[in-house]
Amino acid sequence: MKFFVDTADVAAIAELNDLGMVDGVTTNPSLILKSGRDILEVTKEICSIVSGPVSAEVVALKADEMIAEGRKLASIAPNIAVKVPLTWDGLKTCKVLSGEGFMVNVTLCFSANQALLAAKAGATFISPFVGRLDDINLDGLDLIADIRTIYDNYDFKTQILAASVRTVNHAKECALIGADVMTAPPAVIKSMANHILTDKGLEQFMADWAKTGQKIL
Ligand code: G3P
Repeated sequence: MKFFVDTADVAAIAELNDLGMVDGVTTNPSLILKSGRDILEVTKEICSIVSGPVSAEVVALKADEMIAEGRKLASIAPNIAVKVPLTWDGLKTCKVLSGEGFMVNVTLCFSANQALLAAKAGATFISPFVGRLDDINLDGLDLIADIRTIYDNYDFKTQILAASVRTVNHAKECALIGADVMTAPPAVIKSMANHILTDKGLEQFMADWAKTGQKIL
């Protein structure tokens, strides 16, 4: 499973990228707001750090304007994936931009039928939101599994990009189901390294090592 990092925080992206943990980046208008940066500038900087797909989201609601915005975002760098919402106009935009050879990430997906439409419109990525379905007492991971089955049934090439991944359990289950990609905030990716028994075991090793009175360096 590829790891995309869900942030427009350049320092956080660079840190994970140096460790080989970043296969791509996803941003959205909320993350741009959080960064306090200009969308074109920060996206360009991210693309200079990360060689994999960097999603940048359109903000128009009508297809013709979405297409124009998408072309402008795509001109930032060759690794831009234009992100469009899963609306009818977003699907039209997906069809046009993917036909022009651009990567398209269709976002705000909350149903298997929406994912089916995105695949038929030529999406490179479909972004089902796991955590936001959990928020309304549905199981977001069930959606990832349903889309996996449907895409495999018909050999769709659209990649399942599990989004709104908020916990280490979400990450593990997405990998077990076979999501192609997950995107998660830096803190979630880093917390995948944590285990209470690792901490406990290390504490014991350090205590025993101190008793030996030895040094390695
Ligand atoms: O990639 C979409 C993601 O940013 C949404 O996450 O936690 O706001 O639902 P969240």
